[in-house]
Amino acid sequence: MNDLFLRACRREPVERTPVWIMRQAGRYLPEYRAVRERVGFTTLYRTPELATEVTLQPIDRFGMDAAILFSDILVPAEAMGFDVVFNPGPVIDAPLRSSSDVRRMRVSDPEEEVPFVFEAVQQLSRELADRVPLIGFAGAPFTLAAYLIEGRGTKNFDWTKRLLFAEPQLAHDILDRVTQVTERYVAAQVRAGAQAIQLFDSWAGLLDPALYREFALRYARRVFQATRSLNVPLIYFALNSAHLHEALAGCGADVVGADWRVPLDEVSRRLGGRFALQGNLDPCVLFAEPAKIESCVRATLEQARDLPGHVFNLGHGVLPQTPVEHVAAMVEAVRRHSR
Ligand code: CP3
Repeated sequence: MNDLFLRACRREPVERTPVWIMRQAGRYLPEYRAVRERVGFTTLYRTPELATEVTLQPIDRFGMDAAILFSDILVPAEAMGFDVVFNPGPVIDAPLRSSSDVRRMRVSDPEEEVPFVFEAVQQLSRELADRVPLIGFAGAPFTLAAYLIEGRGTKNFDWTKRLLFAEPQLAHDILDRVTQVTERYVAAQVRAGAQAIQLFDSWAGLLDPALYREFALRYARRVFQATRSLNVPLIYFALNSAHLHEALAGCGADVVGADWRVPLDEVSRRLGGRFALQGNLDPCVLFAEPAKIESCVRATLEQARDLPGHVFNLGHGVLPQTPVEHVAAMVEAVRRHSR
């Protein structure tokens, strides 16, 4: 198996820098759009054969060094009894606003409630056996809770922040339940065959460092501590977190994902040099000419030269309008310049 990704995560020597990109199975790929013409997004992630097919698309096309399960961070919300629809972003019809709402949240067993996730992981690990590792994932508790409270993605997540200030105990009750389900959810993915776990904390950046430690970091850390004994690399990606880097050093993961706002060598210094880093090309670089993409890739590799480990990635998900040939050019540039 190509285990460059796992070795870089573990800060072991590698012959070249491994590369994958967030949202690598998505609408920028013509073969993904072809599947989506036949079925909706929900059917796609609920059907293990289809989820497997689209997960493999970017591996087949670009030779990415890791696969990531095709699913969504809102799937565990279904396991907790919420109705989620995608339009195209997630919408929850009865979000959490009061303590009686919180009593509706079920701390259930994801293997019973959303079995299709683990069936997809099993099928994928069979089909990937000799190729590349499979990354399982979940939303970090704060980010999932923010969707449950807000009901949809919003600019500032005001309902969520209002709850943190006005009813902190209620917020902790919500986060505690989300954390318990998330712990079970990622453990079940590892038992089904996932070889690494990434937590996405996409909305953590809305918090100042003190609030972040109390409501986001603490719960992400709990998931990592509960998962530690399963012996797979743990990755924490908090978007927009430059103001949180000092706090983030206590996250309990092996690898920290960085967005494009701060160069990787600087991120590493702020984190105390202990972590492998994943990132961090601005997804918009992929709209430039291939020669420019190549020079930006080189600059990123240069900034990562002295890190204990580096997994090349974008600083956030690839955008749907991205030209596919530009993704190929990026992957090629990483291969050529990181040997
Ligand atoms: O990375 C991958 O290829 C794996 C699959 C994956 C998806 N969503 C598929 C998806 C992963 C890891 C996610 C994570 C996710 N989902 C996050 C964290 C990462 C981030 O972007 O910050 C968040 C916040 C969500 C919530 C979500 N789901 C949003 C905001 C959207 C709409 C955004 C958009 O691109 O339109 C979704 C829908 C979604 N999840 C799509 C995909 C491929 C688009 C569905 C479609 O119409 O085909």
